[in-house]
Amino acid sequence: MVKRKKNDEFYTQYCDIEKECSNYLEHFFNKIIYCNTDTANSNFVKYFQNLKQQRIIKDIWYTGGLGGLDFRSQQSIDLLKHADIVVSNPPFSLFREYVSQLIKYDKKFLIIGPTNAIAYDEVFVNIKDNKLWNGTRPLGGPISMIFDVQNQMELIQSGKHYVIINGVAKAQIPSTWFTNLEHDKQRPLILSKRYKGNEVNYPKYDNFDAININRKNNIPYDYYGVMGVPITFIDRYNPKQFKILGRDKDLTNNKKGLYINGRPLYTRILIQRNTDTVANDNQALTKKAA
Ligand SMILES: C[S@@+](CC[C@H](N)C(=O)[O-])C[C@H]1O[C@@H](n2cnc3c(N)ncnc32)[C@H](O)[C@@H]1O
Repeated sequence: MVKRKKNDEFYTQYCDIEKECSNYLEHFFNKIIYCNTDTANSNFVKYFQNLKQQRIIKDIWYTGGLGGLDFRSQQSIDLLKHADIVVSNPPFSLFREYVSQLIKYDKKFLIIGPTNAIAYDEVFVNIKDNKLWNGTRPLGGPISMIFDVQNQMELIQSGKHYVIINGVAKAQIPSTWFTNLEHDKQRPLILSKRYKGNEVNYPKYDNFDAININRKNNIPYDYYGVMGVPITFIDRYNPKQFKILGRDKDLTNNKKGLYINGRPLYTRILIQRNTDTVANDNQALTKKAA
């Protein structure tokens, strides 16, 4: 049975669920949706009960949350095997185990996790192999996702980020949607910056032969070597446009990450333009010239 752990009790807002899930209705059609960290009070459950009433989904199952079934229990795993798609916001403290279980049972899913989970071993390897990607909500920018809490006073005193909306304190936590359901909201990354002539803006790392890029929008159109980009790059990752080589700690000798002038940087993903695309670009340019 699930016991209360204060850092896990953040509840997803109905509007966020509705906004994200509306992009996957064709995947949900006639399917059994399993919310395995949710109680009857969860907005996920309310949203999917609504879809069931409208005969869009076949059924909605929920077993988790406080006092409910542990998602790792045999009973929950048996349900998981019979369900079609898992949709939930699991406890972030168990996110690695949660994702690994979904991959192990080869499940379709749409889940919320901490933004940093992009660089977790269990997640990154699947992003790199294009088996898992970001949902439609853009990553980066100043706005973290907002969650309801059970105890507003506890939140305010916890030192965590919070916002007051209509007199209610809500937690603000860097989080994002992860899924292996196709969606068509991936916006192409338009490369508008030039490397040649602006080399000073793209310093090389002290300990790896690649240039540093602080914002994904600064990726230049005329550089074909290795580039280090922030993890927020993944919501624009299109394997036709870029190859992911690995995380900084996978590729550097000290496994510690990347440095510029002795200063350590936040996690970077090392990428390179996809050579097929580069060939296509060149073909297009040649055609234009002819
Ligand atoms: C981040 S909250 C989200 C709750 C709900 N899914 C939502 O989005 O509103 C994670 C929930 O998972 C529950 N939980 C914690 N450990 C669990 C476990 N091992 N199995 C299932 N649920 C668990 C917690 O009680 C908590 O309510």
